[in-house]
Amino acid sequence: MSQAKVFITRQLPEPAHSRLKEAVQTEIWPHQLPPERTTLLEKVAGKEGLLCLLTDPIDGEVMDAAGPQLEVISNCAVGVDNIDVQEATARGIPVGNTPGILTETTADFTFALLMAAARRVPEGDQHVRAGKWQTWGLTLLLGQDIAEATLGLVGFGRIGKAVARRAAGFNMRVLYYDPEHEPHPDDPPAQKVTLKELLSQSDFVSLHTPLNQDTYHLMGAEEFAQMKPEAILVNTARGPVVDSQALYLALKERQIGGAALDVTDPEPLPAVHPLLTLDNLIVTPHIASASRATRGKMAQMAVDNLLAGLNGTPLPNCVNPQVYRT
Ligand code: DGY
Repeated sequence: MSQAKVFITRQLPEPAHSRLKEAVQTEIWPHQLPPERTTLLEKVAGKEGLLCLLTDPIDGEVMDAAGPQLEVISNCAVGVDNIDVQEATARGIPVGNTPGILTETTADFTFALLMAAARRVPEGDQHVRAGKWQTWGLTLLLGQDIAEATLGLVGFGRIGKAVARRAAGFNMRVLYYDPEHEPHPDDPPAQKVTLKELLSQSDFVSLHTPLNQDTYHLMGAEEFAQMKPEAILVNTARGPVVDSQALYLALKERQIGGAALDVTDPEPLPAVHPLLTLDNLIVTPHIASASRATRGKMAQMAVDNLLAGLNGTPLPNCVNPQVYRT
């Protein structure tokens, strides 16, 4: 394996970086921005392993450019919508991801966004910095209560449930929509409902689904029309789960109260995007899992997957285990 050649699409934090360098022949993309498509195609050629980020689209063309010796693709993320997993499976290439490790960090940030939007934290900060703070105002920057409010979780997997556990501390009523989840005695207190019921009853709607063909634009004009006029949408899942144009109109026309997005479509969101003209929107640059500890653990997990693939052993976290059944 020490002769195995791998391409790493970005610098990894320590100790993941050193572990890799000691174990295999690494070529590491040294820049902050992802490699251009043509560079990526060039760099993967002849490599046995590829460690990539969610910003790198990995499809059949990349796998072809790598060549038939490509043994493993390891994504340093839990979401794998940037990878054509079906194509990898057809070629017998295992694809690794980093589940579990970022659950609590992402749930923390979901709550941070929810609270920041409900209580208008960024607006308060801007108010002070702009020199507008002249007195205590009875009606200054009024927001919404979080305690006792209803929280609707679209997706009740690991992160959705972690958000529900936090909501219990605020005495929130929690609803969830997840066709794939059957209520279980170990679940945090929450009630399974239809999407329509969730949208019409929730004060906060928070998205926790993977991006796939069923969830693409799951939140569009029709769904915003069903939400309460004060309701706040929080998205820490994937940008394209929301139809950005429909969200823009819903926010502009105050059909819903506000939104807090850590993920956008397009991503990154250009500074001139119409969404950024709205004052009832908070946007952060896809940082929900960005704590030092969690990002370090994600990198380690991605290295574990990569090295296992190069050793010919099952990846500790593999999204297409069917490759081992043939
Ligand atoms: C993931 O791992 O998919 C997250 O979006 C990164 O924050």
